[in-house]
Amino acid sequence: MSKKKKLVVGNWKMNIAIVPEAKKLVNGVKKKTAKVRKTEIVFCPPSIYLQALAPLMKGRYKLGAQNISGEDMGAHTGEVSAQQLKQFDTTYVLVGHSERRKAGETDDVVSKKLQAVLRADFIPVLCIGESVRDEDGAYLQFIKNQLVKTLTPVSKGAISDVVIAYEPVWAIGAKSAMSPRDLHEMTLYIKKCLREIFGTYAESVLILYGGAVSPVNAGEIVREGFVDGLLVGRDSLDAQNFSDIVRAVDSVK
Ligand code: PGA
Repeated sequence: MSKKKKLVVGNWKMNIAIVPEAKKLVNGVKKKTAKVRKTEIVFCPPSIYLQALAPLMKGRYKLGAQNISGEDMGAHTGEVSAQQLKQFDTTYVLVGHSERRKAGETDDVVSKKLQAVLRADFIPVLCIGESVRDEDGAYLQFIKNQLVKTLTPVSKGAISDVVIAYEPVWAIGAKSAMSPRDLHEMTLYIKKCLREIFGTYAESVLILYGGAVSPVNAGEIVREGFVDGLLVGRDSLDAQNFSDIVRAVDSVK
């Protein structure tokens, strides 16, 4: 298993109705993961909660935003810039989640956002993933295109700051996750694509898996899929389930 740090990111999406509920969820996870040693735990709440949650973060507990604008400031109604999030102790930003892509974000938009995230010294979690796995393997070229189109403007020196979250779209919100064996093939493939673009600079890039992760499958996915961590949707909304996932990942050697 890799010597890199492990990462479990919880994407709350547009859930959790009020601030006290958000704090309760974070505090619940902190209590139940107090013995976790190797794994960084990232909460990505709706951005209006970042300010209230910032004081609860320390050590291996970090905040992430679910989205930012690709622009630094100006006439962009309804958008929030990376610079504006700086004051709220944010460390990570999800970029190109499939739900944002479905809402119209192209690879060009995703790439621009990724660069804005890096400019602001945040860690981007770049989400990639195919919608279908066809028998001819066209999904492999699809993944490669996503990586090339979004990462080409990133310098060799900056690539080690990027986290890749491989999330096959068909597994997001589904009953079961991708099999660890298929995932292993994909992690090898993603590493190969990254090497083609960045050479040895790509070696330290963390690769996460997302899509129907649960306390039952988390350990196996990380151990046999050879990923550095997980991006969790539904089960990040439940303190017990999310903490069980974190502990399962932390115990993988
Ligand atoms: P899920 O979502 O864990 O509910 O499948 C994953 C995601 O959207 O990142």
